Amino acid sequence: MPSDNQSFNYFLRERGADWDVRSLLYHIARSVKYINFSIRAGNTGGAGTENASGESQIAMDILADKIISKELEKSQLAKVIASEEQDEPMTFKSHRGNYFVAYDPLDGSSLVDANLAIGTIFGIWESPEMVGNKAGDGMVAACYAVYGPRITLTIALKGKGCHEFELNDVGEFILTRADITIKDDTTYFAPGNLKVCRENPKYATVMQRWLTKQSKLRYSGGMVPDLHHILSKGHGIFTYPKDKSQPEGKLRLLFEGAPFAFLFNEANGVGKNQAGHDILDTIVTDYHQNTTVFIGSKNEVKAVTDLLA
Ligand code: AHG
Ligand code: MN
Ligand code: MN
Repeated sequence: MPSDNQSFNYFLRERGADWDVRSLLYHIARSVKYINFSIRAGNTGGAGTENASGESQIAMDILADKIISKELEKSQLAKVIASEEQDEPMTFKSHRGNYFVAYDPLDGSSLVDANLAIGTIFGIWESPEMVGNKAGDGMVAACYAVYGPRITLTIALKGKGCHEFELNDVGEFILTRADITIKDDTTYFAPGNLKVCRENPKYATVMQRWLTKQSKLRYSGGMVPDLHHILSKGHGIFTYPKDKSQPEGKLRLLFEGAPFAFLFNEANGVGKNQAGHDILDTIVTDYHQNTTVFIGSKNEVKAVTDLLA
């Protein structure tokens, strides 16, 4: 149950979030509600098409993408938007706002048929210039929705913390957890791309570390619920290392890595790449570039990236 009857708009205004960012988040929240309806009522089948990362799209990836782009267009605040499901970013020259919004419309598409929790991820930057900058330059907010037994929206604003809201039965997102905080140490691990153990013995050493520590495995195969588990429990580590076929990793910098690194930074956690550098310091060279991902409790992320160095 919500701890306090505060809508996210009221709460973020009290926290000093400016009108434009709250307005963008209002449109993002609307898109999340529509996507939630379409997940419950829609077509769970394949679309027969591929996205820019060469992955098969399902009908719901495409529908969620359309819902979000329409809402961001209505906001009049996003000058440029980039989606995991669109080859090129879209520019709205007439918009009064100057924001850049990157999004993964549906994270965990491969879990839809199995009826597991899935999500949507957004990053918001104050200027549309991205290529050549560090991913974290000008980043002002990030958020993600979890479509599970309950629908939640977790929002982080620059310097204003990370907070969870839950959709109630009259369609409002109400505060459920303010100032989510990640402890430095953990006993939870979510190990993506475990097949890497075979080609990189160092990843097998990391796995051995978790077994020796008697850590608890919490892994669904969806980055959103896996990272939401860590934020909910207040500790944990999620890893997605590179392999020979994916030398920069699988996950996308702008649609997945950077938004979650931003959310975790605001919650006292960290988001590093396999080299142990902040994901948010990665120079953007391409809207669809990939990154390795090591996110969660500070000490554990350091120990794991040190073992892989
Ligand atoms: P998406 O559905 O947006 O393509 O992302 C899926 C991602 C992420 O959610 C998850 O951590 C990872 O893919 C799992 O990939 P594999 O099962 O291929 O290892
Ligand atoms: Mn994804
Ligand atoms: Mn996706």
